[in-house]
Amino acid sequence: MLKLNYSNIPKIIIALDFYNKKEAMKLVNLLNPSLFYLKIGKEIFTILGKKFINELHKLGFNIFLDLKFHDIPNTVFNATKAAADLGIWMLSVHASGGKEMLISAKKALESFKKRPLLIAVTALTSITQEDLKDIGIKISLQDYILILSKLSQDCGLDGVVCPGKEAKKIKLLCGNEYKIVTPGIRCLNDSAFDQHQIITPKQSKKFPIDYIVVGRSVTYSKNPIKKLNFIIQSMQ
Ligand code: C5P
Repeated sequence: MLKLNYSNIPKIIIALDFYNKKEAMKLVNLLNPSLFYLKIGKEIFTILGKKFINELHKLGFNIFLDLKFHDIPNTVFNATKAAADLGIWMLSVHASGGKEMLISAKKALESFKKRPLLIAVTALTSITQEDLKDIGIKISLQDYILILSKLSQDCGLDGVVCPGKEAKKIKLLCGNEYKIVTPGIRCLNDSAFDQHQIITPKQSKKFPIDYIVVGRSVTYSKNPIKKLNFIIQSMQ
């Protein structure tokens, strides 16, 4: 079993990006639910859906449902309510869906006694300055992330998903309680794949990040637990 002391490091969310349940459960069965959070994304949710989330809940895991809702306000309201009905711990929407959409997502959670954390994706960690230019956005990636972080906070959200290097500025702007979730985590020998805004587990400790999302660095490893252990060691 992995040993982990969270006193001074970001908490670890494992991205369960698998195409089938057998593969996912091979990893899940090795994890202690009191130490690791699980992220259910578009791939595995499309394949296994609500039933799988219920199973993970029965095992004691907290689930981040990362479906990144981005639609008209009414649709996002209903989807957010449906997600919260699953009893998940956290869910995501795209901040670029705009003010009304963000407010609708927040409103959808009002009727829940124990509501999930609602966080907004600012810029994907795969995005570059060039990508922004391609879609007609002329400001810097950093400013874009800050604007969307502040907008999300003004709409009542609990935090943002953002590249690790932007965490400090966001905390300065939005306050220390505003949650920062950072994907794009890579060890020095890992391939970046499609991610562009990456940081190492060791660097993640230096930024004011609340949660790191670890995916392929662990899931593509021949020995995921050994790799996770290495990641934990390099963060201590
Ligand atoms: O495999 P890797 O570590 O790159 O996985 C990152 C995970 O975080 C993926 O599940 C991806 O969907 C998610 N994610 C991201 N960037 C964001 C938001 C979520 O990479 N801004």
